[in-house]
Amino acid sequence: MSDGPAIETRGVTRVFESRKGFLFREKTRTEALKGVDLVVERGAIFGLLGPNGAGKTTFTKILSTLLLPTSGTALVLGHSVTKETAWLRPRMGLVLGGERGLYNRVSGRENLRYFADLYGVPIAERERRIGEVLERVGLTDAADRRTEEYSRGMKQKLHIARGILHRPEILFLDEPTIGLDPKSARETRKLIRSLVSDGVTIFLTTHYMFEAEELCPRIAILSRGRIVARDTLDGLRTLVGGDRTFEVEAYGFEDREIESLRHLPGVSKVASEEYGPATRLTMRVRTRETTLDDVRGLLPGHPELAVRERRTSLEDVYLDLVEEEAT
Ligand SMILES: Nc1ncnc2c1ncn2[C@@H]1O[C@H](COP(=O)(O)OP(=O)(O)OP(=O)(O)O)[C@@H](O)[C@H]1O
Ligand SMILES: [Mg+2]
Repeated sequence: MSDGPAIETRGVTRVFESRKGFLFREKTRTEALKGVDLVVERGAIFGLLGPNGAGKTTFTKILSTLLLPTSGTALVLGHSVTKETAWLRPRMGLVLGGERGLYNRVSGRENLRYFADLYGVPIAERERRIGEVLERVGLTDAADRRTEEYSRGMKQKLHIARGILHRPEILFLDEPTIGLDPKSARETRKLIRSLVSDGVTIFLTTHYMFEAEELCPRIAILSRGRIVARDTLDGLRTLVGGDRTFEVEAYGFEDREIESLRHLPGVSKVASEEYGPATRLTMRVRTRETTLDDVRGLLPGHPELAVRERRTSLEDVYLDLVEEEAT
């Protein structure tokens, strides 16, 4: 295997132009990606997060040579996704998920035969390879049933089996556990982890924060077509102002009380939201010197006051960064 990053993009943009309205006279223009610079190291799982419509699928499709960028450059395994597709395609796998892309009237095994031929898996090796991937994703027993009888989770496993059939060096997974029950989702995550131990680089998008937290040592957040952060989870916590989060609840706070909390040492943010009949303040705290007792001390007039501390989660980080971008 060669060195260098698994993915390296510079200024990748993508514009979609479509027509709508009477006689399709109205032109709409969507800038899905507005200059994405991203480096992803080899041999790990990299997570891309972002709100609906942020451009994650568009970016994943560009990296996997399914879609052309409007401008910018993108290298995968050191090769251009626009100029070296013939070199790249056998070395990468893409799993877009969902119900599409499978032949429902034939069995899982027959689906894989079709894709094995498409990917140029040698005939002599084909059946053994199919048996291996079926085993790997836990579909051996269902292999000869028609795919239309498969549950959503089984279809997703078959999609992943298809994605690894030709032993790619890099695998793109767009929301691999969407719509799966907790047990199937957990099995899928286990499978994803096992692929990494075989040396496959995985690029994954997800809306499940705990999934990214569990699987991805490094994470990027895409918002409105731009990368707004790229770091380890700890790095992202620092970026949003602290790895401690205080939650403070009472029946309403005065502005001066909130202001006094903001002035405690190490407090980077105090956000207020209605929480049932109560108001909840969420505080991001950077240092150890400020404690829950300091918070209690500043809010004497609230017999109903409830305070607790927890570790800043990826969800907190995500919401802070995406919110910041929106304002
Ligand atoms: N084929 C297309 N034609 C026109 N617009 C498109 C097309 N594909 C995507 N878009 C637009 O590009 C933007 C980014 O879409 P994309 O599917 O990449 O987002 P996403 O981050 O994957 O969202 P989600 O989390 O909902 O999957 C959206 O505004 C979308 O409407
Ligand atoms: Mg998407």
